[in-house]
Amino acid sequence: MANITASVYTSHVPAIGAALDLGKSHEPYWQPVFKGYDDSKQWLQENKPDVIILVFNDHATAFSLEMIPTFAIGCAASFAPADEGWGPRPVPVVQGHPELAAHIAQSVIQQDFDLTIVNKMDVDHGLTVPLSLMCGQPQAWPCPVIPFAVNVVQYPAPSGRRCFMLGQAIRRAVESYDRPLKVQIWGTGGMSHQLQGPRAGLINKDFDNAFLDRLIADPEGLSRMPHIDYVREAGSEGIELVMWLIARGAMSDVAGEKGGAASSVPPIVKHRFYHVPASNTAVGHLILENPT
Ligand code: DHB
Ligand code: FE
Repeated sequence: MANITASVYTSHVPAIGAALDLGKSHEPYWQPVFKGYDDSKQWLQENKPDVIILVFNDHATAFSLEMIPTFAIGCAASFAPADEGWGPRPVPVVQGHPELAAHIAQSVIQQDFDLTIVNKMDVDHGLTVPLSLMCGQPQAWPCPVIPFAVNVVQYPAPSGRRCFMLGQAIRRAVESYDRPLKVQIWGTGGMSHQLQGPRAGLINKDFDNAFLDRLIADPEGLSRMPHIDYVREAGSEGIELVMWLIARGAMSDVAGEKGGAASSVPPIVKHRFYHVPASNTAVGHLILENPT
């Protein structure tokens, strides 16, 4: 049976991708950002999954105002890096896992969540920057990736509560797949940042660190935080953080194991990192493992 073994959380700043692609990662500005991921790269090599479900948001690259799916699952065999205005990033094409993706779509839709099935999609920095941070600059990404896109660009965005419950449904879906796959789920975007208007440049360290604390220890309570609190405290783009609740909802302490009840044993915090700023964004990063 397939199983979700761990969750990874990370910001996705486009300038981080550019720094890596242009060979600037050792410059004084960037060095502390990348250093925060050294242990994570090691961890990923030692805990290589068979598949990653990568929860991210598209930034009007694959989708536009013409069509705005709230939740979209990538079921294609591959996904090309998008051209975001400066040409596609020179990173590997993302290989998908159509069979597991189709199974998740079937299971999660039958659990009353409306997913849009996407059979062709280019993936922007929301997906490729987290892969770069966790994997560096490999010739190929280490395993297939199922892109799971969430609308946090155009209101109404889904509530944190719905995202959390979706994560629980995704865990049930994965555990009902009858092949022995080790699956990780990654929640990306955030932390506090605002790219527009009079408050552009807003960063809120206190909010971000409290969010990390609660994501670990009180995810259910955190999932009840309304949108207005994200926007007020974490800036207009801080709403990207609701995607972290999808990954957190898929952990065994809140979603249960093999159809069983949720356990009270919290996940193991393998790594925690916070750095301000990278471009306009506070960078936050966590790795949580399910206890075995
Ligand atoms: C920045 C952050 C984002 O999340 C994004 O999508 C684009 C830009 C930034 O910090 O510059
Ligand atoms: Fe973003």
